[in-house]
Formats: sequence, C-alpha cells, structure tokens
Amino acid sequence: MSEQATSYETIKVDPISPVIGAEISGVDLTQPLGNQTQSEIQTALSEHLVIFFRDQDIDLEQHKAFGRQFGKLHIHPTAPSAEGHPEVLVIKADEASKAIAGNRWHSDVSCNEEPPMGSILHMRSLPPAGGDTMFANMYAAFEALSEPMQTFLSGLSAWHEGAQTLGGTLGQAAKEYPKALHPVVRTHPVTGRKCLFVNSGFTTRIDGLASNESRALLDMLFDHVRTPEFHCRFRWREKSMAFWDNRCAQHYALWDYYPQKRLGYRVTVCGDRPE
Ligand code: SIN
Repeated sequence: MSEQATSYETIKVDPISPVIGAEISGVDLTQPLGNQTQSEIQTALSEHLVIFFRDQDIDLEQHKAFGRQFGKLHIHPTAPSAEGHPEVLVIKADEASKAIAGNRWHSDVSCNEEPPMGSILHMRSLPPAGGDTMFANMYAAFEALSEPMQTFLSGLSAWHEGAQTLGGTLGQAAKEYPKALHPVVRTHPVTGRKCLFVNSGFTTRIDGLASNESRALLDMLFDHVRTPEFHCRFRWREKSMAFWDNRCAQHYALWDYYPQKRLGYRVTVCGDRPE
C-alpha cells in the first residue's frame, strides 16, 4: 500500500485490512464505467491488490463488459465455462464435489506463459455459513524475507505446471497441460514493486537447483505465504464481487461448507509475461 492515502472522487474505498483488500462503494457495475471511475478502480486495485463490491446485480454480459474495461478476457485452458460464454468460468461446489477450484494458496493459471493479470468473481449463491476467500499480499511476503534471501531468490526462476492442480486435483482433462518458467521474484508492471511469484497451486520446482534443494526452498516459501499478517479474509454475500490482481496477490478458497452448495462466475483478464 502507498503510505499516503489516495483521494478518490467518484468511488469510496474502505480498506478491510492495512495490508490487503478494500471494499469499494458508490459504483453500479450494471452500467459502463466512466473514465474517471475506471481509473480510480484501477488505482484502488494497485493499492489494495484485491477490491470488493457489494450488491452488484449483474448478468454474465455485464460481468464480461466490466472485465473488458481492464483488458482482453482470458479463456481457461481446462475449466468448465458457462454455456455460451467461454470467457466465464463456473466456480461451483455441491454435495457431489470431490475437490473445488482454488482450495490452496495460488495465483490463477500461473502455468500460462502469460498468466492472467486479474480475476473477477461474482458470487451467486452461498452456503448458510462459510465459503470465505482469503487473499495474501506477495509484496509483503517478499519484503518480509531477509536481504540475503531476497537477493538469492531474485536470481532464480521456477516451473509452473498445470498438470498437478488442473489435471491431478481437479481432474480437468486436457491433451496437454500448460507449463511455464517464471522468475521467482517478479516486478509488477504497474507499481514497479517486487513481489514473490511462486505458489503451491502451480509451482513445482526451482530451475537449476537439485530436487531436494528445490523442494526445501519451495516448502519454506509456501509456508511463508501462509503468514496471517499478509492476509485478509473476505466474507461473501450473494451478489458480492471480488477483483484481485494475480501478479501480486494469492488467494485461497475455503471449503468448510461441504456438502452445502456455493456458486459463482469468474471472468479473468489477460496479463503479460512476468519479468
Ligand atoms: C478461484 O478463482 O480460485 C476460486 C475463488 C473462490 O471460489 O473463492
């Protein structure tokens, strides 16, 4: 977060924690955004990494239109989409689910060569209790490491593989799962700040290290990401929407409500190659 509070003219921004997450009010997402509001939402996302909107009664076309105001929409390589809307991912759990999307710390589809910049999830129905989503600040995770560790990690790259989560955990069939090599520490293209870019959903090994070294280092970093001081926890209501920046935040969807149902739709905005 910036040290000086930004002043917003068209929206209200209320942080839900000092580290990550803010609730935005004063905007109706059924309508196209004006330039000033679009730019303020972009600023709020840069400052808070994940932003939340309440009571947004939008349909799938309005959801896609909102996403397109921030970039081209991404089509997921394996996950089921809403009928007639290939850009809309269905996030669904019920009594028949064996696993759910996002139930470990991750950054969406980081196994792509150009992972998505952001994801926008609109919640349609919820269990009577539970089903929260947690978010973690990867600038804070990087900055909390010692300087020698920061320097060591800054020279490394890691493999991100779709097969383990998309194929293994979620059982989504594909001829070939995406796989990509990314820097362990990336520089955010908008803020210019460095952040940690490995996650337990997709990162499988550090390039150039022996396998026991890679495992130990990844385990240390995945454990580090679990530090509660880097987190916020969002309690959904029906028609809430969350917009997170996958470049500098990770998230974790809790599955504490089985066998109850939960349903949402996600639109994902394309990103660039991490540097
Ligand atoms: C995800 O996009 O990873 C799922 C998040 C959620 O269901 O809360």
